[in-house]
Amino acid sequence: MPRVQVGIVGAGPAGLLLAHLLAGEGLEVAVLEARSREYLEQSPHRIRAGVLEWGSKEILAQAGLGDRMLVQGLEHRGVYLAFDGALHRLDFPALTEGRSIWVYGQQYLVQDLIRLYLEKGHAIHFEHEVVGLEALEAEPTLVYRTPQGQTERLVCEFVVGADGSHSLLRSQIPGAQVHQKTYPFAWLGILAQARPAAEELIYASHPRGFALFSMRSPSIARNYLQVPVEERLEDWPDARIWEELNRRLEGVAQVEPGPLLEKSLTPLRSMVVTPMQHGRFFLMGDAAHIVPPTGAKGMNLALCDAVLLYRAFKAYYQQKDPGPLEAYTPEALRHVWQAELFSYFMTTLLHTPADPFDDGLRQAHLRHLGQSPHLQRFLAENYVGLHTSGRYAGVLRAPVRG
Ligand code: PHB
Repeated sequence: MPRVQVGIVGAGPAGLLLAHLLAGEGLEVAVLEARSREYLEQSPHRIRAGVLEWGSKEILAQAGLGDRMLVQGLEHRGVYLAFDGALHRLDFPALTEGRSIWVYGQQYLVQDLIRLYLEKGHAIHFEHEVVGLEALEAEPTLVYRTPQGQTERLVCEFVVGADGSHSLLRSQIPGAQVHQKTYPFAWLGILAQARPAAEELIYASHPRGFALFSMRSPSIARNYLQVPVEERLEDWPDARIWEELNRRLEGVAQVEPGPLLEKSLTPLRSMVVTPMQHGRFFLMGDAAHIVPPTGAKGMNLALCDAVLLYRAFKAYYQQKDPGPLEAYTPEALRHVWQAELFSYFMTTLLHTPADPFDDGLRQAHLRHLGQSPHLQRFLAENYVGLHTSGRYAGVLRAPVRG
């Protein structure tokens, strides 16, 4: 039976960054991905968030994976909050000692990570669906189906589950606890051939509901509307979406409608699985934790997990030190809960709730934020990721402690 040191299940940002870093150290890595390369790179259903924290940008650049991101990504030095009919800009460099963020679609990052991995001569086993994990206590063995429909096995010294929010492997952690929260609303998202509402993102709080105005390029807008969780996409013809976006922007800006490239509905939820490991098995990325998109943290958390696990495997294989692998869960939970906190904060701060009391509190909070440099600093520090990817921003350059 074939054997590798680290078997990685899932070729999203988490699995691919880890594969790059481990293969770069000369470790034997296998990446198994259930979907095809075309699906991962092009499927319109895969349009995901597009904000890289300052630390995430540093990690990718230091790993030699950021060439296209640095050219085509858009550096943003602030965001706008819109409420009470006015725009309030948060100046990130001023509030965070010079930090900014990068707007770059997750899908583009995945394209880059796949291309560069293959160019380095490594393999990604697309259309290899993992259907089981055997002998976890002794010799973890991945059971997978090949594109030809055969069932085969791969023995791994370690297995990493980076298989996304619908993770099959999550259930491999005996006694794992799933801490979660759902919200009574969803996001109706559009990608459109249209000019973005502004040069930076606008997070708009409006009595009719929250709206977010983002972008993928100066000619592609990415906008979202808060809608009830039971809403149906069929009830939202394009014209209604544009009209509603503009109503929620009244008095602060307006968007010009353009052809839609994509339309989707995403319920908001928060989830943390703990522990994130068992024996020789580790979970990372969306398989281990979900954040509502309001804080733009999902892809960044995936990259944090990858750097942390990389450092732990490196200590294990190069210094024979199992300590960092054993400490993976408590270490990861620090950045995970920080991002959960911020995503929850942004979600409750910006979405209009049904309960008028809750809404009164929310609006008081928002107005306070508009006037308080302290609260603005809290938001900006979290948005640029000082305590998430910022914790790892220099580590790819630094030697591992033995
Ligand atoms: C996006 O550009 O898709 C985006 C930006 C910020 C968010 C969520 C999504 O908070």
